Amino acid sequence: MSAPESVHGMWSSRLMFILAASGSAVGLGNIWRFPYVAGENGGGAFVIVYLACIFLIGIPILSSEILLGREGRQSPIHTMKTLTKTSGANGAWQFIGWMGALAGFVILSYYSVVAGWAMAYVFEMGSGVFVNADGATASQVFADFTGSPGKVVLWHSIFMLLTMFIVARGITEGLERTVKYLMPALFALLLVLVGYAMNSGHFMEGVAFLFSFDFDKLTGAGVLMAMGQAFFTLSLGMGAIMTYGAYMPKDASILSSATSIALIDTSMALLSGLVIFPLVFANGLESSAGPGLMFVTIPIAFGSMSGGTFFGVMFFVLVSFAAITSAISLVEPALAWFVEKLNTSRRNGAIVVCTIAWALGLGSAFSTNIGSELYLLPGMTFFDSMDYVSNNIMLPLGGMLIALFTGWFLSQDIVARQLQISGGKLIMFKVLVRFVAPIGVGLVFINTFI
Ligand code: PFF
Repeated sequence: MSAPESVHGMWSSRLMFILAASGSAVGLGNIWRFPYVAGENGGGAFVIVYLACIFLIGIPILSSEILLGREGRQSPIHTMKTLTKTSGANGAWQFIGWMGALAGFVILSYYSVVAGWAMAYVFEMGSGVFVNADGATASQVFADFTGSPGKVVLWHSIFMLLTMFIVARGITEGLERTVKYLMPALFALLLVLVGYAMNSGHFMEGVAFLFSFDFDKLTGAGVLMAMGQAFFTLSLGMGAIMTYGAYMPKDASILSSATSIALIDTSMALLSGLVIFPLVFANGLESSAGPGLMFVTIPIAFGSMSGGTFFGVMFFVLVSFAAITSAISLVEPALAWFVEKLNTSRRNGAIVVCTIAWALGLGSAFSTNIGSELYLLPGMTFFDSMDYVSNNIMLPLGGMLIALFTGWFLSQDIVARQLQISGGKLIMFKVLVRFVAPIGVGLVFINTFI
């Protein structure tokens, strides 16, 4: 039997778990990354593969992570250690926990840099430079900002400090309090923006771009990106959700929570696309503009609205907070391990984890200025390399191993007890985690790398 509670604290209800996990899932991946990656990969066909990955691979792995976490009630490294022992499986499965903690550092390092851009944009918007700005002006403001190493590092540092303070305060006082107000606010604001995009005149062009399936535009590399994006957006494959599962009340339903989280996350991504693409087309911008897409289109939209400066400031405040509720979950696996292993305080754990991630993030902070010519992987800046390795390799690999472990090696009594299912439903779950998810990830890997 698993421990009833975790030593790190507990979510106060099932709803709080869902909000926190959605807070982890909904972040820069939805508002910033999804639209630009979909744009670079031609739109519709990419979206279909992405949605298939969310439902066939994402939800089963999301459920697996939660159930492993709730059974182990510790950091992923120690949870995997306990569960391999009780299931009589090979200790090598602990690799899942170690790689997850490493992926957390890699992602957090560049995530904080982009979140810093978003925070800086609160003030760029507030300055009024975007009032009636055209595409060229907005692109120039973005290039000027990201071209300044001092500014980028400053905002990266501020974001990391904020993350550190919240994480240090603990589950209830830090995280729960943040997500309770910010998640509903973010959702409401996105709806306002969709309303605006509907009136921009190019709404249907945006809809067509996202939902017309032209498979000629999708390459093998695009399929890998769609799968990587599905893992990234659901925070899967690195133990973040496993850690959150460790703090989940014992009676809450895992499958219905996982489905809610995936639906919330997917709607936020699609809504972001429905805001950004109509504005891209209305302003004659390129859908394949890359990481700057959101930082150019959204300011133009607000710049041409009455009251737009106010709403624009709000928007970037909320994006920053959406990023924070995700960043916290990137810290948590390594932090929980640190606290368990060294028997030290959350505060110390937070300082160590955030400082390492901050230092690694300097590489990404410089990728848009003094380090723009420095390539780590062929043709990729430090920033692009961190993003590529974590999303396209580490997260899918971690997710595949989690599915395999849950399906083949974990005691199946634990699976049935944690999921509270039996019969046909249990068989369906097993088919998904034993075959569909790992084979799906495996095929995409083979197709891309061999
Ligand atoms: N899901 C987050 C987003 O879409 O922005 C990013 C993320 C958070 C990825 C936590 C992985 C993770 F463990």
